Amino acid sequence: MSFLVTGIGELVTNDPDIAGVIEEDLYPAHLGVVRDAAVAVQDGRVAWVGPACDAPAADWRVDLEGRAVVPGFVDSHSHLVFAGDRSAEFAARLTGAAYDGGGIAVSVAATRAATDDELRRLLARRVDEMRAQGTTTVEVKSGYGLSVADEVRSLRLAREVTGEVTFLGAHVVPPEFADARADYVALVVGEMLTACAPLARWIDVFCEPNSTHAFDEQESRAILTAGRDAGLELRVHGNQLGPGPGVALAVELAAASVDHCTFLSQADVDSLVGANRGVGDSTVATLLPGVEFCTRSPYPDARALLDAGVAVALASDCNPGTCYSSSMPLAIALAVREMGMTPAEALSAATLGSARALRRPDVGRVAVGGRADLTALEAPSYLHLAYRPGVPIARALDLGV
Ligand code: NIG
Ligand code: FE
Repeated sequence: MSFLVTGIGELVTNDPDIAGVIEEDLYPAHLGVVRDAAVAVQDGRVAWVGPACDAPAADWRVDLEGRAVVPGFVDSHSHLVFAGDRSAEFAARLTGAAYDGGGIAVSVAATRAATDDELRRLLARRVDEMRAQGTTTVEVKSGYGLSVADEVRSLRLAREVTGEVTFLGAHVVPPEFADARADYVALVVGEMLTACAPLARWIDVFCEPNSTHAFDEQESRAILTAGRDAGLELRVHGNQLGPGPGVALAVELAAASVDHCTFLSQADVDSLVGANRGVGDSTVATLLPGVEFCTRSPYPDARALLDAGVAVALASDCNPGTCYSSSMPLAIALAVREMGMTPAEALSAATLGSARALRRPDVGRVAVGGRADLTALEAPSYLHLAYRPGVPIARALDLGV
């Protein structure tokens, strides 16, 4: 079955080499913008991209009547498998309580108590919510089970909705191990890893010496290297609550991404510059501005990272504690308004950058042979993603694949 998506007033491809690319102030060449464009799709892959007047014939034709189209958002960081409600914790924070990861135990208790079907329903609803806001690839972490059986269950459920599944047994030390941290780390790198590794692509750790609940440098290194030995690829939660070893560790171990990066030293920035080695081999700095917004924290210095030449991604971090928002357009709007990123940089970070953070060359752009993940905007230009915050203008196109 072939489709022709035509009538695209402005198409962002993230491919500067495509025919007909414009280059103007707000349209840098790297965005690969083509006006009055069309995309031909065959079996879920892009078969052709270019000016609509040159488009090939197809079985089905979808006319977008001048709307803008961007590559589907790649949300490379989310925690969607959880039950329970932590809105009261959020409200308490607004009156001054600091976030330290302690609330994760509340979600763990509710998640353990939920049935498979309840969790499956909650997860499906959150993924639908993302798609309705233009996200077409999502990474999903475990981390609210924290026992062998509950982590296995979370990963099995995550696999039902995405191939980008991350084992986060090292989210926090669960309450029953509060006085036996070393035993919990031994469980994570032992029996839990053995059971979980076949179900995941990635392993992640909440490396945060500023929280008694999370893991220090030595524990994090042990967990990540054990994960790597078990065949998993690495990601790290680092430098979220204060300066710390997360970024350096992620770079040292060639993790695909270090996420949050809220508190960085110059040495961290320098090491990330050195870790920008190209697609498939970099440690990307993934910024999660929804977290700073929801926890009233200072935003990461995106400008310093971009100006230095670090590979930057944007993701939602949708989770019940620090950011219960699944909206990539919100992340883009915050990146532009609060972190000094240009609209072009923000869109690129939410598509190509986050695809790099997942080491996925087939998503994050509109290019022949890649996945035909297209997000249509109820707007004439990609600039409206930042210009119309909170307005649901983005939706993933359903091309029946
Ligand atoms: O990415 N920092 C650790 N994990 C999540 C928050 C999890 C929670 O509070 O439930 C984060 O911010
Ligand atoms: Fe997270």
